[in-house]
Amino acid sequence: MGYRIVVVGATGNVGREMLNILDEREFPIEELAVLASRKSLGSEVSFGEKTLKTKDLDTFDFAGWDMALFAVGSDATKKYAPKAAAAGCVVIDNSSLYRYDPDVPLIVPEVNAEAIHGYSKKNIIANPNCSTAQMVVALKPLHDRATIKRVVVSTYQSVSGAGKGGADELWDQTKSIYNPTDDKPARQFTKQIAFNVIPHIDVFMEDGSTKEEWKMVAETKKIVDKNIKVTATCVRVPVFVGHSEAINIEFEDHLDEDEAREILREAPGIMVIDKREDGGYVTPVECVGDFATFISRIRQDSTIDNGLNLWCVSDNLRKGAALNAVQIAEVLGRECLKKG
Ligand SMILES: NC(=O)c1ccc[n+]([C@@H]2O[C@H](COP(=O)([O-])OP(=O)(O)OC[C@H]3O[C@@H](n4cnc5c(N)ncnc54)[C@H](OP(=O)(O)O)[C@@H]3O)[C@@H](O)[C@H]2O)c1
Repeated sequence: MGYRIVVVGATGNVGREMLNILDEREFPIEELAVLASRKSLGSEVSFGEKTLKTKDLDTFDFAGWDMALFAVGSDATKKYAPKAAAAGCVVIDNSSLYRYDPDVPLIVPEVNAEAIHGYSKKNIIANPNCSTAQMVVALKPLHDRATIKRVVVSTYQSVSGAGKGGADELWDQTKSIYNPTDDKPARQFTKQIAFNVIPHIDVFMEDGSTKEEWKMVAETKKIVDKNIKVTATCVRVPVFVGHSEAINIEFEDHLDEDEAREILREAPGIMVIDKREDGGYVTPVECVGDFATFISRIRQDSTIDNGLNLWCVSDNLRKGAALNAVQIAEVLGRECLKKG
């Protein structure tokens, strides 16, 4: 006995990774449908050893399907997620559309799995922003021990966080730097991304921050604790996959760096690699394809009373999107639908 699962946006970066992870984690599936836009109708995607043909989201009937894992962007989500939910199919959505809706739970299973029961208000569950997901996995166990007051985070986000087009742009621009006749101007990003860094992700807000930075603030409050203050600077870097974050945390209570390291070693979803020697830390290329959020460079911040610094790296297409969505599906199945 398994679930009837729909993957929406199956030809995209996140959709393809969802298929990989459903297979790797042996999710109990009775039937699987893969959807994309009409232009991809009939194109093939891999699911384990199998090859599946994509169907058109626009004409798909969600009645009788248990869960739909959406990875299509906010516009298409706005049009199709309510249809799926109304047909009785629970939507697990990767876009930002429903994340701040009080009637939609926003879930990172290692942090707030118990919020799953709120799904029935709209039949929709939201998946957080990629930068938030990996950060809150690291913050939660430390918050439980010493109560976090404030977080200062700088991100180094890979181009795959901007979809298929982002990775193509880095690839094409990198080649064109060595072949100047083949000029590839910035399209997806606002400036050259090859051999450069761009301190701008998503649109600007009135206060001068960007929407990506605002998302880290609002989502951390919704998932972990509304009292935690967060200030973020989000930067796009020329890395294909894997987001990195330098995180400074101020606590209510003292937390020694050795105790923090032990707490993180025991925490779900985390792998601590923290040797004070050349290469004794994790970089984005090493986290690709992994389920874990990696923590390195744990050290006291001696400029404030109760402060710690750490380095946090994870595969943005996995913990930042597809893995977290599949983990939500696992919790939903286990706690609510109970068919598996
Ligand atoms: N990449 C990340 O790290 C990340 C992290 C967290 C959340 N997200 C979110 O996940 C979603 C997908 O991101 P992505 O990186 O996978 O994007 P992507 O690589 O650009 O893929 C987009 C997918 O959506 C489909 N699609 C787009 N518009 C559609 C429409 N009107 N009808 C049907 N299908 C449509 C595309 O199908 P076609 O191939 O047919 O065009 C494709 O399968 C976005 O909401 C994004 O914000 C991404």
